[in-house]
Amino acid sequence: MVAGAGVSAESGLGTFRDKNGSGIWARFDPMKPATPEAFPRDPVEVHAFYNARRRNLITAAPNAAHFALVRLETALAKRRDELTLVTQNIDDLHERAGSRQVMHMHGELLKASCVACETIQPWREDLGLRDRCPACGGIGVLRPRVVWFGEMPLAMDEIYAALRKADLFVAIGTSGSVYPAAGFVSEARVLGIRTREINLEPSDNANQFDHRCYGPASEAVPAWVDEVLAST
Ligand code: APR
Repeated sequence: MVAGAGVSAESGLGTFRDKNGSGIWARFDPMKPATPEAFPRDPVEVHAFYNARRRNLITAAPNAAHFALVRLETALAKRRDELTLVTQNIDDLHERAGSRQVMHMHGELLKASCVACETIQPWREDLGLRDRCPACGGIGVLRPRVVWFGEMPLAMDEIYAALRKADLFVAIGTSGSVYPAAGFVSEARVLGIRTREINLEPSDNANQFDHRCYGPASEAVPAWVDEVLAST
């Protein structure tokens, strides 16, 4: 399964590109806060963007979609089956809902990484140029532990290994416009895996899915989990 911003939308975290033009990237040029080139050029602006998102995340709470996926993970585990939950989201709402295994392919907002010593540590406060890396002591060397445009997403080997073993691939709350996640559905099709999209509206690659259901994640995901658990 791959999750996107739509899963956390009803927790108040905003999405990036909604068809009504209300996404984060309609208000910010992604090339400013979200590229490796932007950080050395304007670290203050980059930190400000992520500091605002981090503060917002800390006051947000998981919604019914996150809790339904915990229910699914728990029920499958009892049957010695497995849910691989890959998310493009950098929030920790799946973990706070109780999901035990989450693969954050675009990183985690509540972590910082050091550009000098590469140590990664938990980070819940604002991040700025005066902060010192707890590991190497360098000042101004910490960046948000997030994957920017042009950087390699995380855990791709594990993700493709899980996809090869899957019998169902589900994309939830993602516009299908950012690769590599947008390409998982075509990989799944080549592998003969059933595919399902759950989203507010048809995504950019909606026509590649065998099954599609549309509605807010807080309703559509619990309804789908009920269906899966009733049928297996
Ligand atoms: N329930 C379900 N889906 C929703 C909801 C909701 N309540 N609200 C919005 N959506 C849908 C939108 O219709 C849209 O198709 O969620 C999708 C969100 O798409 P994006 O904003 O593009 O988010 P995502 O696909 O996760 O973006 C991928 O782009 O900029 C990068 O790094 C960023 O991880 C992000 C990546």
